[in-house]
Amino acid sequence: MVFQVVKQETKPIDGQKPGTSGLRKKVTVFKQDHYLANFVQSTFDALPSEKVKGSNIVVSGDGRYWSTEAIQIIIKIAAANGVKRVWVGQNTLLSTPAVSAIIRDRVNSNGEKAYGAFILTASHNPGGPDEDFGIKYNCENGGPAPESLTDKIYSNTKAISAYYTVDGIPDVDVTKIGTTSFEGPDGTFEVEVFDSTEDYVKLMKTIFDFTAIKDLLTNPKFTFCYDALNGVAGVYAKRIFLEELGAQESSLLNCVPKEDFGGGHPDPNLTYAKELVQVMGLGKKPPTNDVPEFGAAADGDADRNMILGKRFFVTPSDSVAIIAANAVGAIPYFNGGLKGVARSMPTSAALDVVAQKLNLKFFEVPTGWKFFGNLMDAGMCSVCGEESFGTGSDHIREKDGIWAVLAWLSILAHRNKLAGGDKLVTVEEIVTEHWNTYGRHYYTRYDYENVDAEAAKKLMAHLVDLQSKLGDVNNMIKEIRPDVAEVKEADEFEYKDPVDNSVSSHQGIRYLFKDGSRLVFRLSGTGSVGATIRLYIEQYESDPTKTFKPSAEALAPLVEVALKLSKIEEFTGRSEPTVIT
Ligand code: G6P
Ligand code: ZN
Repeated sequence: MVFQVVKQETKPIDGQKPGTSGLRKKVTVFKQDHYLANFVQSTFDALPSEKVKGSNIVVSGDGRYWSTEAIQIIIKIAAANGVKRVWVGQNTLLSTPAVSAIIRDRVNSNGEKAYGAFILTASHNPGGPDEDFGIKYNCENGGPAPESLTDKIYSNTKAISAYYTVDGIPDVDVTKIGTTSFEGPDGTFEVEVFDSTEDYVKLMKTIFDFTAIKDLLTNPKFTFCYDALNGVAGVYAKRIFLEELGAQESSLLNCVPKEDFGGGHPDPNLTYAKELVQVMGLGKKPPTNDVPEFGAAADGDADRNMILGKRFFVTPSDSVAIIAANAVGAIPYFNGGLKGVARSMPTSAALDVVAQKLNLKFFEVPTGWKFFGNLMDAGMCSVCGEESFGTGSDHIREKDGIWAVLAWLSILAHRNKLAGGDKLVTVEEIVTEHWNTYGRHYYTRYDYENVDAEAAKKLMAHLVDLQSKLGDVNNMIKEIRPDVAEVKEADEFEYKDPVDNSVSSHQGIRYLFKDGSRLVFRLSGTGSVGATIRLYIEQYESDPTKTFKPSAEALAPLVEVALKLSKIEEFTGRSEPTVIT
């Protein structure tokens, strides 16, 4: 069968500006004639054509609704643009971290690597006919396309007049492993469907001691629960936790990927991972079964994670600090030491304290995983994390939900080996011990979603103004809550990338207090309607006798200061945040 390249006339379609998380829109928008094709052609046109010609390109994602249709469209456009081989995870499934691993590590029979990937996901957004679809392009280093490339893609979408597709390639069966070949004007074009987990599992085995983790997971005293929230993580959980590490099948919740994520919101936090929260004894009702020792969840494309102990929540900010503090010794990949650690600006300073004590290079970057990628490419960072449930390392260039769980299981296994006793060390013990050593960063985030964009701008301007009058601010604080420390410094966060010297300004407003506490205000970069204001509140407590208060109680004085100082109710008309995490 010989296929022909077909030129299809088209017109620019508005609103195809991709963020670093790609282009995310309602399925109904993606289904419009030429919508996806315009975007894919604009991406190929933004890349050097000599690199695209003859390349291997990965196309897969979290399996959300419309993925099967999208993949067939992309395969044909890839063939017409001279791509030699499209790599597809079986049933269109590849987690975002697995795609990153595949780009970096997989080689075909000729020893060639992939040039890039189209990841079909809208991450933690719901899926289904009336919900979201998404597409994101990742580059040769395995990380999301930099802004220079996404800007180019966007400008191409505004000028596009035609795209290229093919005549003579039928829909490829992506449910079966194997290679299908087609002959075209530039020679053979192949679609290779492979097991979604093989490359990722191989990589995980080079990082972690699977035997040590298996000993823990098969110890009858250790109980475990993993919730994939009906996303792609389920495929990896089955292969890794059950087949490789011997966990019980009953440990897995919602581990069959569904194209609508079971109608839920596939975001691993205390609000949306309801079933797991209930099982772990943190729900409103008392749990019906014995509460497991360890629980974890992932988002739709398996890059985010939430870690829970028995009736115990580990904040993402604590999680990255604890992983960094315990990595050497517990995780073979880090045995040579950590090159450095990094967190996003609004993430609590728990990691800073670890970096100081362990004398590690430390970086505070703006929100967005791409900033970590630069540091990692330059060999400056080994472990990093964000308050938004993202944790990872330089093994790939995306955050990694399953990796985070394996990291925690490794720490537990290692601690048990050191303790050597009959009783297993718990998640809660590891965290409280960490607080005893490093102090505790009580932490909470208030989100005000869908606020009028003008009102949000005014609020931020008010906060910028205040930050230049610290004397007044401290007088106000004394009146609002005399028990709150003074502000020693305030600024609008600006980051100069130490690798490429690029500057990112206006990345949020920080108030830093004399006792190490912080208030951070920023506008979300991922909201879809109006503006989302995020208020991050962090109280540092170094006295080990005071690290066991309920979080809300410890944070109450600072919350009061934050709300009154910012006049958030006055500006937004909101007396309550939409969500508290
Ligand atoms: C995505 C990015 C993260 C970021 C998060 C929150 O998940 O990959 O790097 O932390 O969005 O962003 P936002 O701007 O909404 O706070
Ligand atoms: Zn995600």
